[in-house]
This record gives sequence, structure tokens and C-alpha cells, in this order.
Amino acid sequence: DWTMGNFLMEKEVEIRKMVNGKKAICALSGGVDSSVAAVLVYNAIGENLTCIFVDNGLLRKGEREQVEKTFRDHFHIPLIVVDARERFLKALKGVTDPEQKRKIIGNLFIEVFEEEAKKIPDVEFLVQGTLYPDVIESVSVKGPSAVIKTHHNVGGLPEKMNLKLIEPLRELFKDEVRELGKELGLPDEIIYRQPFPGPGLAIRIIGEVNKNDLEILREADAIVVEEVKKAGLYRDLWQSFAVLLPIHTVGVMGDYRTYEKVIAIRAVESTDGMTADWARLPYDLLDRIMRRIINEVKGVNRVVYDITSKPPGTIEWE
Ligand code: XMP
Repeated sequence: DWTMGNFLMEKEVEIRKMVNGKKAICALSGGVDSSVAAVLVYNAIGENLTCIFVDNGLLRKGEREQVEKTFRDHFHIPLIVVDARERFLKALKGVTDPEQKRKIIGNLFIEVFEEEAKKIPDVEFLVQGTLYPDVIESVSVKGPSAVIKTHHNVGGLPEKMNLKLIEPLRELFKDEVRELGKELGLPDEIIYRQPFPGPGLAIRIIGEVNKNDLEILREADAIVVEEVKKAGLYRDLWQSFAVLLPIHTVGVMGDYRTYEKVIAIRAVESTDGMTADWARLPYDLLDRIMRRIINEVKGVNRVVYDITSKPPGTIEWE
């Protein structure tokens, strides 16, 4: 009969046989799917797996450190961290169109990943954290949001690089993957992480992306996540995050007039991201978030709350 333990054992045997002493690589994103896939495959083939994590500079606060701590220090999985922050920033310079941003980020990711993969001799396999719903979605008619925005994870990688795929999670749903993650000893921080889009903070800075705005948004976003967690609501929400708007508004700070940027708070409840309801966050929580952002994040003097559901809105602002 089917249990997590049996599933893990069978998968490990199957993968060990398939890889047969050759080498495999895995693109870690910091999310639950690629993390679970990586640890599972590592248990099967050990040092023949190398994980690659691309720091594109569009990550949330502490994300890269979390991945390093978990995979390198805790699991001792061979991990290459590529610092590609400047390259992404340069590629995004002057770009304001959301779809253009996505394309640039997706293509550059593949480029950077390929470069690193080439440095590892005799790689034949690519590990991907594809879930059952991803398999279904890629063969059936896509939902409206998939059509309107070109969602990419690491699509396009295997075809280009001529690698054989290892997809140990292909038959599983998200909750099963979380259960596996627990069984494998992954930290709750990764297992229960809210979804985070591949293009990252770049599609949460409305308009052109620059270093300074990334820092502002990263700090504001960390405050939102921290306060939502403290309030015990993080796992109840599909997503909760900050968006940086490209307008300045007037404020007052002590005796001075200020003219600075606006942060929008977005928090939604959803089961699959296809539809979503704006979260009725407690006023006290919103108040704490507002105060902390204004006090702690330089360059922001106004905080607003997005009360748009999906439809008609999308979850992301771009
Ligand atoms: P929207 O904004 O379309 O988002 O309501 C639905 C879900 O998809 C995520 N999202 C993305 N994920 N690459 C991704 O990997 C993308 O380009 C992308 N755009 C949106 C979004 O965070 C939400 O969970």
C-alpha cells in the first residue's frame, strides 16, 4: 500500500538505477518543489548531484542565505551559488513592460544556468520539481492567467541542453510534496513558503527596476512577511507581499514635508492562484505593517492596501 516511506524508497531505487553513476544537476529556486526534488535525488545518488542556485538579485530578504544554510550546511549537498545580480540588473535597465521583464529574466536565467552546468563534466540528467498539476496544465488548455502572463519556471531548460529529465514529483500534489519534505527533514520555512514568482521582485516594482528600489521593496516585503507570520496568518494566506509603486506622494515627517514613494500591501486567500479573494487582514496588523514600513524603510512615506480580488484583478500587479 502507498505510504510516504514506500514512495521515497521506490523513487530512490528507480533514480539510482536510471542515473547509474552518471551526473545530474538541479536548479534550486528556494521553493518547496525544487527543494524536495533535490533532497530526494541526493538521497538516491549522493555527490553525483550538483545543485545550482542563481542569485538574480530579485530575491526576497534572506532567501539565498536560507538556501545555503539548508542545502550546503545542513544536508551537505554540493551547491553552486551564482551571483548574477549585476547581470540581471543590467539586462533589465530601461525595461518597463511586464512581459518584457519576464522574457529577459527567463532567458538570462537559462543562459546563466547553462554556463554553470557546462563547467560540470559529463552531466546527463536534469532534476525538476514538476508536480502533477504542472503536468496537467502543460497538456490541457491553460487558464486565463497563464495565457495573459507568460508564466515560466525553468521551462525550456532540458530541450536546449539535451539533458534527460528526472521528475520525481510528477505524480504528486502540493500537499503530498509538503509531506515528503517533512519526511526528508526540510525546514518548515521552505515547506510552507508561500509561492514566489520566478521573475521575483522585478514584477513587484512597477516600471523600471533599479538597485535602490529593489532594496526598498526587499525591506518592505520582509516587514510584511514578518508581521503576517507573527500574527499567525502566514499559512492561511496564499500570498502576502509588498509592491513598490513608481509615484511619489506628499507626506509630513516632523516639521518637514516629504515627497516619497508608495508601498502597496497585497494579501490574498486562494487554493490554486487561479482565483483569489483579498484577505480581510486585521486592522491592527495592517497598522503595525504601515508603521514599521514608514519608520524603517527609507524612501517610503505612504502605505496602501489592495482590496482587489481575482478576477477582476490579478494577484501580482504586473
Ligand atoms: P496572477 O498575478 O496571474 O498570478 O494572478 C497567479 C499566480 O502565479 C504567480 N505568477 C508567476 N509565477 N512566474 C511564476 O513563476 C511568473 O511570471 C508569474 N506571474 C505570476 C503569482 O505569484 C501567483 O501565485
